[in-house]
Amino acid sequence: MADMKSGLEGVVVAQTRMSKVVGDVGQLIYAGYDIHDVAEHASFEEVAYLFWYCCLPNQRQLASFEDNLETRRGIPFHVMDLIRATPTVQSHPMSVLRTAVSALALGDPGSNDISQASNLRRSADLTAKIPTIIAAHDRHRKGLETLGPRDDLNHASNFLYMLHGRVPSEAETRALNLYLVLLADHGFNSSTFSARVTAATQSDIFSAVTSAIGTLKGPAHGGATETTMEQLSDIGDVENAEAWYTQARAEGRRIFGMGHRVYNTEDPRARHLRQAATELGDVTESKWIKIAERLEEVAKQDPYLTDRGIYINVDYYAAPLLNALGIEPDLFTTVFTMSRIVGWTGHLIEQYADNRLIRPRSEYAGATDLKWEPIEQRG
Ligand code: COA
Repeated sequence: MADMKSGLEGVVVAQTRMSKVVGDVGQLIYAGYDIHDVAEHASFEEVAYLFWYCCLPNQRQLASFEDNLETRRGIPFHVMDLIRATPTVQSHPMSVLRTAVSALALGDPGSNDISQASNLRRSADLTAKIPTIIAAHDRHRKGLETLGPRDDLNHASNFLYMLHGRVPSEAETRALNLYLVLLADHGFNSSTFSARVTAATQSDIFSAVTSAIGTLKGPAHGGATETTMEQLSDIGDVENAEAWYTQARAEGRRIFGMGHRVYNTEDPRARHLRQAATELGDVTESKWIKIAERLEEVAKQDPYLTDRGIYINVDYYAAPLLNALGIEPDLFTTVFTMSRIVGWTGHLIEQYADNRLIRPRSEYAGATDLKWEPIEQRG
């Protein structure tokens, strides 16, 4: 099999109307709209509508769409019981979220229905309920009372309220909304691919999203924001950034929040997150943003990275941004999930509408001529 592509790099396996990523010029388009326009104007709810209905909503449509999401924020008793039964230590929030999302299918009489109408309803359900699950688990593990959703707050604001128990400032809501908008979709990234692979077997939307959450968790994908924060903590002070970088490179370690399979220039989402993180960091006097800025400066001068087209990616400034919002590092990937759920479900609606089993082949690299030995004769 001479044309094997390790990691499926560069292989085109489907068409999509969701998003277009042009790696060499750092361009990202959401369903026709340039990401810089989207970042400036969109609410997260509008982006969800755009992905599911393939057009921007008018005012009336958006208001009714937002109402629909608000009414779906509550989670079933059995999911809340499951969260409350979770051990408060050694339970990574992504593992809890993966399990709770899977449990949302239980008791749902239409959970196996893969019609478009059912998938749109369940996409709204998953989008609305995921923030409630994340916040409920975080408060449970801290021994705090869980808070129900508030229907007078938008998606971003309600999440921060349920997490922290106070209504966030406008600047905090704006920053989280921007983060959610920017991470909502990104071509055939690994988690979207795994969601579509699951759906292509005609399995249900809960199974497909559960697959996607498991895939997003890895540090080479969504988990990179948490690892980027660990990296900033490890550096500890802006003065240490250069020495830390030199040592990391000497030890051949990867710099988290840098590099991308598709972009070989700066990720177009990074500039918006840099700006938002800096604005929020000025208010909260965050040292992490200063460290991130210094590390980026140092990395940009290293030909090892620039020759390979390695620049900051979306996770880099997302780490200090989420930190400035008071979100614990081990929750970062769950907040990424809160955003990417609208991209996954948009892709799933597309996949179910024009489905073909996704089933690549492998090149066998083992022996073919071994002789079967009876068990008592094996060494
Ligand atoms: N720091 C240092 N070197 C890096 C690097 C990084 N973050 N990312 C890639 N490289 C180097 C590799 O060591 C390799 O070098 P070599 O040519 O000397 O062997 C080369 O770049 C290609 O790496 P490869 O792993 O084949 O590229 P990829 O396309 O599979 O990698 C990532 C993409 C995202 C997995 C990779 O850049 C990475 O691990 N980044 C850090 C994790 C991260 O931020 N992930 C979030 C992605 S949005």
